[in-house]
Amino acid sequence: MGIPSWPVSGARERELLEEVLQSDRWGGYHPFVARFEQEFAAFQQCRFGLSACNGTVTLEMALEALGIGEGDEVIVPAISFISTATAVSRVRATPVFVDIEPDTFNIDPQRIREAISPKTRAIIPVHFGGPMADMDAITAIASAHGLPILEDAAHAHGSEWNGTRAGSIGAISSFSFQNGKVMTAGEGGILLSNDEALIDRAREILDQGRRKGEGWFFHYTLGTNYRITAWQSAVLIAQLERLPEQNQRRARNVAIIRENLADQSGLHFQRVPEAARVHTNYLLLGWVDGDRAAFHKKFTAAGFPCTPFYPHTLYENPLYRDRTNCRVTPCPNSEARIRDAFWIPHRALLGTDEDATALAVAMRNAL
Ligand SMILES: Cc1ncc(COP(=O)(O)O)c(C=O)c1O
Repeated sequence: MGIPSWPVSGARERELLEEVLQSDRWGGYHPFVARFEQEFAAFQQCRFGLSACNGTVTLEMALEALGIGEGDEVIVPAISFISTATAVSRVRATPVFVDIEPDTFNIDPQRIREAISPKTRAIIPVHFGGPMADMDAITAIASAHGLPILEDAAHAHGSEWNGTRAGSIGAISSFSFQNGKVMTAGEGGILLSNDEALIDRAREILDQGRRKGEGWFFHYTLGTNYRITAWQSAVLIAQLERLPEQNQRRARNVAIIRENLADQSGLHFQRVPEAARVHTNYLLLGWVDGDRAAFHKKFTAAGFPCTPFYPHTLYENPLYRDRTNCRVTPCPNSEARIRDAFWIPHRALLGTDEDATALAVAMRNAL
């Protein structure tokens, strides 16, 4: 049984890093930075990219570039990593937590519809675990209300909705390259958009309020320094070259695992709509009918990595628990999955066919 280690790197990363080392620009102005932005944007079928030091500040810049601030509400799912919500809070707007669908783990379009108020200014769907949220339904709601969509695509490098890649459907989108993501530079993030003006506004924030073509010491807006480095960009160029094959390998292994366990009672896997069939498999998500703690203990004792889901919904974090700085709509599905769900990280899905079969057997034995 082999559980590959993560991150994966090779001669290509070393070659590109050496090129940076030999250059006189180790920071955010090496040509690798713009090259990776163009290559990743093209890969996601998008026109413009802006890379940054992580996938949290990219969300914050996107909201700021959209003009969202104090008094505004932004709709987010109750199940995600904390940045999806704190990005809203950090631009002084109010996160509005809505429920997920019980089986896809993605934000429920009907709940978005019900949560919209006169203060709503944007919607942030998260493509949770890899499969994209229902972008047809969410786009229809957003268009009807004149709201921009910010896709939190931190799990969705190469994911598709009906053949269209993540990040190219919403007004703007954000990806993360943090250590555990399917492509990584240890830290890193990128914003993508087909709207050049939005990316230019975000670039001003990221680069000290500077403007394209203007002088180095001319600062037009209140910006900061969120630049990525040449080191990260070098590694990301190499990681992107490896991603399509890794996405395919994970998809094959997940198909083997799901086929092996298709008749298994007491175990449910994330439902993946046909439109979202192509995705990263960043997390293999599921839930159990019985005792999750006992399942988790047995499965991990057999040598497999597994996390018994988040300990709480986003709004039950100490930061939001007293509800003074957010709005919470009823989220029974999110609360149910907190009690019974689990995930297996993507590195466990990068082995051979035999490894995938062994994982399925261990899951069955752990139930
Ligand atoms: C859904 C989601 N959004 C945003 C982030 C934040 O990205 P970063 O860690 O690069 O700041 C993460 C994970 O790290 C995430 O899982």
